[in-house]
Amino acid sequence: MTLIPGDGVGPEVIGAAIKVIEAAGADIEWDRQSAGASALKRFGTPVPDALIDSLRRTHVALKGPLETRSGEGYRSINVYLRKTFDLYANLRPTLSFAGVHVPFRNVDLIVVRENTEDLYSGIEHTVAPGVVESIKVITARASRRIARFAFEYARRHRRKSLTAIHKANIMKLSDGLFIRCARAIARDYPEIKYREQIVDAACMRLVTEPGSFDVLLLENLYGDIVSDLCAGLVGGLGLVPGANYGDKGAIFEAVHGTAPDIAGKGVANPVAAILSGAMMLDYVGHPRAAASIRTATGAVLRSGRVLTRDIGGKASTEEMTAAIIRAMERG
Ligand code: NAI
Repeated sequence: MTLIPGDGVGPEVIGAAIKVIEAAGADIEWDRQSAGASALKRFGTPVPDALIDSLRRTHVALKGPLETRSGEGYRSINVYLRKTFDLYANLRPTLSFAGVHVPFRNVDLIVVRENTEDLYSGIEHTVAPGVVESIKVITARASRRIARFAFEYARRHRRKSLTAIHKANIMKLSDGLFIRCARAIARDYPEIKYREQIVDAACMRLVTEPGSFDVLLLENLYGDIVSDLCAGLVGGLGLVPGANYGDKGAIFEAVHGTAPDIAGKGVANPVAAILSGAMMLDYVGHPRAAASIRTATGAVLRSGRVLTRDIGGKASTEEMTAAIIRAMERG
């Protein structure tokens, strides 16, 4: 498996995930690779050839966050990797944990985000001084396959409803195409209640009535924004794992970024990276190890004794990781 520790808090939380995966008894051979700002410093490029070769060989990676400067510098390496390996489906299961004090209980949302097009196609140009265009690309092919992925997930996991979130009242062509594709796919899944909601109203309802949603299906940009909103409902970015799936491989990574404000301090919450590791274990055929990681993580959060600062405790990354390993050993 390819291992990309990443930038900022990446090496801290990925280090924690590796320890927990080892303690769960999964025998994984890691091929450690650099990407992003750390690779730029060491190798003069944010995407070294060795990284791409490794991903072509392993098809699976556990990845830390990578720094992308706003409004300058190289283009997002995350977007580059997702597009290069056609990892079209971004899945972010967002669960609340008893023990983490937030206004809502029992949040259980599955965010499915299209990962390869939309405004992230990177087509931007200056039309005239002071005037720029960013092109939003939506295709029927990508819209149908992400809708199919979301409905298949919903069926396999016995989820009750799926809401396609859009702004087709304004972007009648692009978002209009996206929801028409979702509607067509929905017909093959009569047991799953299909709904549509405009993105602004959906955001409001997510923070007032999160329990009224189940699986969410979104284009790339709305998915990026709404998944962070959903993370806020359960206690923050430190808790939410993620995966980018394609037909031939997958990259597993937390929803959060490099957290430059806390990087290097040993206080980052490792849970999102650890749960991303559990998603990876499921994918590569170690479901028992994955389940024991989830159970132990849930137990530590529930007990509320060893929590990192972002979720109201005082523990360091290392202390929380050790607590999860102890919980796993206790079974
Ligand atoms: P961020 O997710 O890094 O941080 C937002 C806030 O959440 C900060 O206050 C941070 O301390 C907190 N936070 C994030 N992860 C945490 C954790 N594990 N434990 C405790 N607190 C945590 O988002 P921001 O600041 O917008 O982005 C920083 C950098 O990360 C940028 O260069 C951005 O491009 C990059 N980024 C990379 C991603 C990836 O590689 N998948 C995803 C999102 C952002």
